[in-house]
Amino acid sequence: MIAETIATKQLFLGVPILAEGRCIGVISLVAFSEQSQLLIKENTAIFSDYIKHIAQLVITKLVEENTQSYGLESIFLNLIDNMDQGVLVLDENNYVKYGNQPALNNLNLTKKDLEKTQINIRALSHCKNSIDNEQQHIISVGKREELLVGRFNNLQSHKLFLMSFYQPHSPTITPEANAIFTGTIGESSKMLHIKALMSRIAASPSSVLINGESGTGKEVIANAIHKLSNRAKSPFIAINCAAIPNQLLESELFGYTKGAFTGASSKGRVGLIEAANTGTLFLDEIGDMSMQLQAKLLRVLETREVMPVGSNKAIPIDIRIISATNRNFEALIASNEFREDLYYRLNVIPLYLPPLKEREGDVQLLVNYFLELHAQKLGVSYPGITQQAMDCLNSYHWPGNVRELSNLIEYLINILPDGGQIDTDLLPPNLQAKMNNTVSKLPENNATMTLESMEKSRIEDAIKRLGSRKEVADELDIGIATLYRKLKKYGLND
Ligand SMILES: Nc1ncnc2c1ncn2[C@@H]1O[C@H](COP(=O)(O)OP(=O)(O)OP(=O)(O)O)[C@@H](O)[C@H]1O
Ligand SMILES: [Mg+2]
Repeated sequence: MIAETIATKQLFLGVPILAEGRCIGVISLVAFSEQSQLLIKENTAIFSDYIKHIAQLVITKLVEENTQSYGLESIFLNLIDNMDQGVLVLDENNYVKYGNQPALNNLNLTKKDLEKTQINIRALSHCKNSIDNEQQHIISVGKREELLVGRFNNLQSHKLFLMSFYQPHSPTITPEANAIFTGTIGESSKMLHIKALMSRIAASPSSVLINGESGTGKEVIANAIHKLSNRAKSPFIAINCAAIPNQLLESELFGYTKGAFTGASSKGRVGLIEAANTGTLFLDEIGDMSMQLQAKLLRVLETREVMPVGSNKAIPIDIRIISATNRNFEALIASNEFREDLYYRLNVIPLYLPPLKEREGDVQLLVNYFLELHAQKLGVSYPGITQQAMDCLNSYHWPGNVRELSNLIEYLINILPDGGQIDTDLLPPNLQAKMNNTVSKLPENNATMTLESMEKSRIEDAIKRLGSRKEVADELDIGIATLYRKLKKYGLND
């Protein structure tokens, strides 16, 4: 092991450094002066022992460092491999270096694919809190792109992407899902896309924000998501934030303890958030919630606890929030009417419901569905409908969307003699006008003003005559939420 070389003017005493059977270097003592050379020659055994000792120290240090990093790395990978949640390990440019089996399954990839394919992740929207919050991401696997909800997480020198739930590679609607969809009519490409998205996101606890015009079926969709989810056996609780004054909404949502305020029930009351525990809470018209309540709701979402009014004891809750609106959040945030942080919390999964006129082929399906539904409800036989009447319904622009169509069919069945057939002469004048193409062509502004003032006076008239808001909404063929919005718009709230 000891090599001793005497050059003309140098003396060299060297020891190889051997690690795991491989020579990874040499430690040597070189003497230049004659005096030093003599010293080494006379004490060769001592000096070679000394160098051997130093070599040993180097090896020990090396092995220790190697084992340490190898140990951590293997513990880290072991942990990831044993997680049910899909986890991807990324480099600094968000390219995937490693993925556990659930992540590979979600992306329909093998370990080999991972080595050969460039996989990149980027956030779908620019959310300030994207580091902490789950949100939608686009993951590009070569040329293929998938939508995934998840979040980034930094663990020491590693950057991880934690997938929040399983999203199948090619979203298809399963037979079980189809059965639930029987009350959600629509086979247009836009509706099929929405149904596929609903199947994908049902299992997730992430918040959903449904946006769409009045009557497009936001509540129908929220309810179907709940039924598709593993929360289906727990309650689905819906509350309309626009229909209830804010002080009342607070106690409705959060509940209160006995004697919390004047007029509070002596027993106290369980809030809707608590009542929806393990289920789904549907917050309709969320854009109308006051800033003060928004702050309270945000706290619930962050802490997953609810504090009833008048209580100092927090109750842990597990709810999924689905909210709906037909208002423009960007404008609400810009005018300080809606908290941006809450918006991002609620809008983890955005779902846009298009107006009925954009759903090709769906009017006919809905007409047939409502004919059957309302005929059954009214106990009459299924009525026929002429092709001309159907053409007329198909070409109408449906400003009140599915609700307007449903109400029209109910009206038609009511006025049709049993066993009769719906023809164009039974259709209301605005639909007939569409058929004859005789819609008056007023300038847009003028038309809006006229319609608005007409609408206001119709609402005023109905309020005067009828007892409750519900009756007014029913008579006007609009939803209760829409009615409250219009009351606010026209300053008719008392
Ligand atoms: N795809 C659909 N299939 C069957 N019925 C539907 C569908 N969409 C909506 N409806 C029916 O239309 C009516 C209105 O639906 P919903 O209350 O869900 O609308 P919305 O978007 O919440 O309206 P608003 O904004 O006024 O609250 C309901 O009677 C609902 O059952
Ligand atoms: Mg609604």
